[in-house]
Amino acid sequence: MDYIIRDLLRAQDMDGLEEVQQSAWGYDDRDLTPGSLFTVHAHMGGVVCAAFAPDSDLPVGFAYSFPAKYKNQMVQHSHMLAIRPEHRHSGLAARLKIHQRDRSVELGYDLMTWTFDPLLTKNARLNLGKLGARAVSYHPDWYTIKGGIYAGLPADRFFVEWDLHKEVFEQPKTPPSGEMALEATGTRAGTPNLELSGAVVLIESPRDIDALKKTDLSAAQTWREAHRMVFPHYFGSGYVVTEIHDTGERTFYHLER
Ligand SMILES: CC(C)(COP(=O)(O)OP(=O)(O)OC[C@H]1O[C@@H](n2cnc3c(N)ncnc32)[C@H](O)[C@@H]1OP(=O)(O)O)[C@@H](O)C(=O)NCCC(=O)NCCS
Repeated sequence: MDYIIRDLLRAQDMDGLEEVQQSAWGYDDRDLTPGSLFTVHAHMGGVVCAAFAPDSDLPVGFAYSFPAKYKNQMVQHSHMLAIRPEHRHSGLAARLKIHQRDRSVELGYDLMTWTFDPLLTKNARLNLGKLGARAVSYHPDWYTIKGGIYAGLPADRFFVEWDLHKEVFEQPKTPPSGEMALEATGTRAGTPNLELSGAVVLIESPRDIDALKKTDLSAAQTWREAHRMVFPHYFGSGYVVTEIHDTGERTFYHLER
C-alpha cells in the first residue's frame, strides 16, 4: 500500500495515536501516553509523525520523539514507534524512522536515542541491522509496565544511540562468529562467561520470547536474569552491540569492542 507519512501538530490529530498504542502494545489505560503530551512536544521541539493509508485519516502507525539531554548533548529521544499489526512487514517502521531522522536533522540534532527490550529480537534486527543504531547500555527495570505484550517479565531495556548523519543501509544477514559469552541450555539460558576479551563476543537471546513465555515462563525468566548479568558486564568492559545474527533457529547479539 502507498502509505503517506506526515507530521502531526493539531491536538485533534493526536487522539488516534492512543488507539495505535493499544493495538500495537495491548496497553491498558494506565500505560498509555496521552495525546496531550504528543501535542505539547509537537510544538516544543519534538517530532510526532504518523503514517496513513491513502484513503483514511486514521493513523496506522507513528513515531514520537522529544528533546532530551544525554551525555552533555541535546538529542531527540524517541519514546515510541508503533505500527498496527495489520500494517506491519511492509517497511513502514523503517520509513517512519527515516522521516523522524530527517525532521530531527532539520531541527539541528546529530543524535537520536531510544530504548528497546533485548528479548524482542525482531526489534533488534530493525534497530541495529536495518537502521544502523547501536546499543550502548543495559537498564534493568527501566519501566514498571506490567500489562500488554510485556506482561510476565521485568521491563528491562537496551539504550540505543543512532548517529543521524550515518548512511542507513540494511546490513547483510551473516552467521554468528565470535567468542560465546552466553548460550542456551535447552530452552533455558546457560551460565554466562564473563572472562572474554576478544574482538567479538556473542550473547544468545531466545528467538521467540513470546512463545517461550507461553510454554515455560520460568525458562523465559532465566534469559532476563542472564542478560542482566552478562550485558552490563560487557558494556562496562567497552563493548557495544552492533548487530543480531539469526541462524533460522537461534539468535545471537554481536558485541564489538
Ligand atoms: C516493531 C514494529 C514497529 C515494526 O513495524 P514494521 O512496519 O513491521 O517494520 P518494517 O516493515 O519497517 O521492518 C520489518 C523489520 O522489523 C523487524 N521486526 C520488528 N518487529 C517485528 C515483528 N513483530 N515481526 C516481524 N518483524 C519485526 C524485522 O527485523 C523486520 O525485518 P525483516 O522483514 O527483514 O525480518 C512493529 O512490529 C510494532 O509496532 N511492534 C510493537 C511495538 C514495538 O515493539 N515498538 C518498538 C520498536 S523498537
